[in-house]
Amino acid sequence: MTSLKIGVAGLGTVGISVLKILEDNKATIRNRAGSAIEVVGVTARNKNAKRPMDISAYTWFDDAQDMVAHCDVLVELIGGSDGIAYKLVKEALSKGVSVVTANKAMIAHHGLELATLAEENNCNLMFEAAVAGAVPIVNAIRHSFTSDKITGVHGILNGTSNYILTQMRETGRDFADVLKDAQDKGYAEADPTFDIEGVDAGHKVAILAALAFGTQPDFSGVHMTGISSLTEEDFHFAGELGFKIKLLGSAEMHDDRVLQIVEPCFIPDGSPFAAIEDAYNAVYCECEYAETPLMSGLGAGGDATASSVVGDIVALARGESAPVFGVPVSSLKKVGSFDPREVESRYYIRFNVKDKVGVMADISAILRDHGISIETMIQLGRSPEQNVNVVMVTHDALREDVNTASDLISRLDVIFGEPCIIRIEEDF
Ligand SMILES: NC(=O)c1ccc[n+]([C@@H]2O[C@H](COP(=O)([O-])OP(=O)(O)OC[C@H]3O[C@@H](n4cnc5c(N)ncnc54)[C@H](OP(=O)(O)O)[C@@H]3O)[C@@H](O)[C@H]2O)c1
Repeated sequence: MTSLKIGVAGLGTVGISVLKILEDNKATIRNRAGSAIEVVGVTARNKNAKRPMDISAYTWFDDAQDMVAHCDVLVELIGGSDGIAYKLVKEALSKGVSVVTANKAMIAHHGLELATLAEENNCNLMFEAAVAGAVPIVNAIRHSFTSDKITGVHGILNGTSNYILTQMRETGRDFADVLKDAQDKGYAEADPTFDIEGVDAGHKVAILAALAFGTQPDFSGVHMTGISSLTEEDFHFAGELGFKIKLLGSAEMHDDRVLQIVEPCFIPDGSPFAAIEDAYNAVYCECEYAETPLMSGLGAGGDATASSVVGDIVALARGESAPVFGVPVSSLKKVGSFDPREVESRYYIRFNVKDKVGVMADISAILRDHGISIETMIQLGRSPEQNVNVVMVTHDALREDVNTASDLISRLDVIFGEPCIIRIEEDF
């Protein structure tokens, strides 16, 4: 092959950075790829949109499907689980055109179908940039850990929420205030739902689980809790108890069932994950043989994400190839879900209670009746007949028992609002 012909669909934050890297680094990339990378066309929604670089030298296609007919590789950087991106990628793969994408939502929702299409048509589907931006975890699992047995993958997988959690802890400001600031600085989107409610991290967990365990990607099996209900008090108590709060995404194999979960967790201060701050991501694989290091780096942003996209393009130019999820589609296992209610852990529970004689005895009795023993209890100040926060740290307990007991406690007439329950993750 004299050159690898690529078409870039989507010229937003990532698409423009891809073009910029391909131009700025042309000679090095050619040398590493072993052939030239030729951009045969670009497309986006609006040809005349103002863009941070001049794209007039590139051939513009009004019809993205028409562009696919001219490419060896479609670089899909439009986004969205369905719609035009999904349609275009299916079109490309069914014609034997390989695809490089950063679209985690599409891979999480349609990964099995798209991997099948790629395999049937002898082409590749690459998505290093879809998980943790510049952190090369997809290729690490797909290429480097092929000899090992991965039993778990854990990560801080969403830069926006990590930035918000860092700011809430450092400044003592509330969630809404910090979110607004993140939006003003461009760290959070106008509609931040996917980032703050754990959905974006959930997409990545579904992809990592499939790669790590050789299972069919199953986004519907991911349990997601976001960060929007955390309060200043939770950060205060976390600090008092020696923890930081991080939105952790985990995939774990439990016999023949997979646990896929995203939720805020207490992580011991001083542990490697606790040091991952602001918009940074980190991922850690538990392997049977390898002592896998924690890999961290920028999880988002045009240049960081585009560097992974271009890395995948170079791999294709070199003729590198691997099954989409690490094993042939026919051997991807369909496994059941491990329910988070079966997770045994220490838990932090915060109740807002009316400070009244006998309240603590009532709460303790309900917890005792559900087999939950308390390791630490904190009540800040006394304020008779006023609301106060009461915090408990349990010994190891089943989440189901913690939920049931908390539910009963919250029905007591001295309890206000919903209790806040956070898993304490000791292993990181
Ligand atoms: N931004 C990041 O930091 C980041 C990080 C990791 C992964 N990703 C993923 O990378 C992908 C692209 O993200 P982005 O941030 O670059 O998005 P973006 O800035 O919103 O850009 C989206 C691009 O898609 C084009 N587009 C939208 N609808 C279209 C349609 N119907 N037909 C053709 N083109 C259409 C837009 O065209 P116009 O420009 O003409 O409006 C725009 O160029 C997404 O899958 C995202 O999840 C992004």
